[in-house]
Amino acid sequence: MTAVTPTTSDDEPILSLRGISKKFGAIQALSDVSLDIYPGEVVAIVGDNGAGKSTLVKVLAGVHPASSGTICYRGDEVSLANPTDARDLGIATVFQDLALCDNLDVVSNLFLGRELGAGALNEVEMEQQTWALLRQLSAKIPSVRTPVAGLSGGQRQTVAIARSLIGNPSIVVLDEPTAALGVAQTAEVLNLIEHLRERRHGIVLVSHNMADVQAVADRVVVLRLGRNNGDFAAADVTYEDIIAAITGATDNAVSRRAGMTGATLTRAKEGLSS
Ligand SMILES: Nc1ncnc2c1ncn2[C@@H]1O[C@H](COP(=O)(O)OP(=O)(O)OP(=O)(O)O)[C@@H](O)[C@H]1O
Ligand SMILES: [Mg+2]
Repeated sequence: MTAVTPTTSDDEPILSLRGISKKFGAIQALSDVSLDIYPGEVVAIVGDNGAGKSTLVKVLAGVHPASSGTICYRGDEVSLANPTDARDLGIATVFQDLALCDNLDVVSNLFLGRELGAGALNEVEMEQQTWALLRQLSAKIPSVRTPVAGLSGGQRQTVAIARSLIGNPSIVVLDEPTAALGVAQTAEVLNLIEHLRERRHGIVLVSHNMADVQAVADRVVVLRLGRNNGDFAAADVTYEDIIAAITGATDNAVSRRAGMTGATLTRAKEGLSS
C-alpha cells in the first residue's frame, strides 16, 4: 500500500471510516471502504461513474447510513444514522445541487432554518455575520441582499459553501463543486477551498476534474467499483497513476504500479507494443 503521511502536523484524523459497506437492495455500492480525514487537509475522492463517490458522501452526511463498518470521530466510535447526527458532529456537506432557495437573498439562504432572533428576526446581526463569513473566505459577492437567482454559478457555490460553515464544522464535504463552472469561477472555488484548508477544516472534495484535484488536493483517494483502489499523497502521484487506479489498469493500485511509466501505460491502453 502506498504509505500516506498526512500533510499536517496533526497526526490524529478528525474522522476515520473503516470497513464501510453500503447495499441498496442487491446493489453493493460500497465494500469495505476506509477513509481518514485530517484537519487542514484536502482529500480528493475520485473514481469512475458509479464508483461509489456520492454514496460515500451520503454516508458522511448521514443521508444513507452505512450497512456495516465503523466510524470514529476523534477516536471515539460514533453513529451517522441521520443528517442531524452528522451536523451535530460538525460534518457539513455541500451537495451537488446546492439546494439554495433562488428567490431568497444571500443572508436568508445562509440562515434558512436557523434564523437569529426570537420572535422578530435579527436581520442586522445575520447580515453582519454573512459579511464576516464571506470576508473570511475572500468571497466576491456584490450584495448579500440580492436573490441568489441573480448570482453566477461560482457565486452560488460560494453561498452554499458559506452556508455550510455556519456552526463552524470541523469537516466540509464538497460534491463536485466545480462541475458546472467556467474557468474563472472554478479558480474562485479552488481559492475558497484553500481558505478552508488554512482555517484547519478537514475537506473532502469529490471531483471528476483531475486538474482541480491536482491543484488543491493533498491526498487522493480512488474508489473503483465501490472499493478503495488507491490512497496517494498528491505531491507524489502522477496523473497517469490516478487514471490507472480509476480505470483498473492497476487493479488494487493501492500497491504501486509494477514499474509502468505513464508513456508505456498509454501505449498499453492504446494497444501499442513498445
Ligand atoms: N439510492 C440508490 N438506490 C439504488 N442504487 C443506488 C442508489 N444510489 C446509488 N446507487 C448505486 O450505487 C452505485 C454507486 O453510485 P454512486 O452514485 O455512489 O456513484 P458515483 O461514484 O457518485 O458516480 P457518478 O460519478 O456517476 O456520480 C451505483 O451502482 C448506483 O447505481
Ligand atoms: Mg456521484
